[in-house]
Amino acid sequence: MTVDTILLVDDEPGIRKVLGIALTDTGYTVHTAENGREALRIFRAVKPPIVLTDIKMPDMDGIELLRIIKREDPDTEVIMFTGHGDMDLAIKSLKHEATDFVTKPINDEVLEIALKRARERIALRQKLREYTESLEKLVEEKARKLVEAERMAAVGQTVTELSHAIKNIANGLKGSIFVLRKGIELDNKKYLREGWEMVAGNVDKIKNLSLDLLNYGKYAATHFCLSDPNTPAQEAVNLMRAKAQELGIDLRTELGGDLKACGFDPEGLHRCLLNLVANALDACQDEAAAGRDKTVVVKTRATGDGGIEYQVSDNGCGMPQDVQSKLFQSFFSTKGTGGTGIGLMMTKKIIDQHDGRIEVQSKPGVGTTVSLRIPARQAPPDA
Ligand SMILES: Nc1ncnc2c1ncn2[C@@H]1O[C@H](COP(=O)(O)OP(=O)(O)O)[C@@H](O)[C@H]1O
Ligand SMILES: [Mg+2]
Repeated sequence: MTVDTILLVDDEPGIRKVLGIALTDTGYTVHTAENGREALRIFRAVKPPIVLTDIKMPDMDGIELLRIIKREDPDTEVIMFTGHGDMDLAIKSLKHEATDFVTKPINDEVLEIALKRARERIALRQKLREYTESLEKLVEEKARKLVEAERMAAVGQTVTELSHAIKNIANGLKGSIFVLRKGIELDNKKYLREGWEMVAGNVDKIKNLSLDLLNYGKYAATHFCLSDPNTPAQEAVNLMRAKAQELGIDLRTELGGDLKACGFDPEGLHRCLLNLVANALDACQDEAAAGRDKTVVVKTRATGDGGIEYQVSDNGCGMPQDVQSKLFQSFFSTKGTGGTGIGLMMTKKIIDQHDGRIEVQSKPGVGTTVSLRIPARQAPPDA
């Protein structure tokens, strides 16, 4: 069965007809059912990867249908239609692992977004399945490719540490295989889910690692030009604002009003600040920082000697001394599958190329301030 097959369940003939036509036009193969019982019959016969169902229907309601479908095939993506004011039902359906809900009257765009998400999840699962089939081979190959990559020249002596990072992922994957195998042997959903999450985490980590490495390699040369020092700070904050908002973190700037344009690499500084803000947001999400309002502030100011200082402060988890002493080591991360340890190593490389300095002040349980100081220049260092 392809991803493009949809089962559409609604007791209103109008909706079945209109939506059925719209979805068929978009390229889906659509089966329709007017009630839960018929829906189940079709579901069992056709095994559609995506089900769209109304929540409120006579006899078997949408939630009951969702529950049965999820029990028979947890991979099915079920999108619920809800009326206005059905928020409780909508939330209940999410608890039963509905993919999404769409409010009636149904807006085509909203539905397409929900369907896109469902397709993405299906594609992701398919990918994971492929990954698990040859995990170790994949990791070995990745390692070889990464090591061979031309860009690795820039990483130089860190290849050994990189192998270490990859070996950790391989071990993580090995562990996931073990848990998955137990889950299959014992027919234990909990193990299967845990194993699944471990695989997903490790695959994420491989992805992040390759992306970060690629970025790191790309940033081979610094391009100095006369720029406004506030611009990279403002841009980094703009980029991260949506994420901060989603996490309930107050991300703001305090930009010096009297900064003169000077010679630095705006793209490089932008990357540094993105790394620092990303770390600050991570620190705010850490358990050790739970229970208070989170703030991340990005500041700029002119230093006494005519240079510029950027500061990123958070009131997140902070770091103990032993973490602080390893911060700039390549691939050092305390974030498990969530981190690659490339952010600060890259930040340091860029600041070094500016003849600048990085200073870290941090207190466990209180927060962290990272300062980047770069000297003012009017032209590239080699000009
Ligand atoms: N603002 C911060 N608060 C607490 N810990 C931090 C902060 N910034 C960096 N760290 C620590 O430094 C480590 C390395 O950071 P980084 O090089 O960006 O790698 P990553 O973010 O991928 O782990 C992090 O794993 C974390 O332990
Ligand atoms: Mg980071």
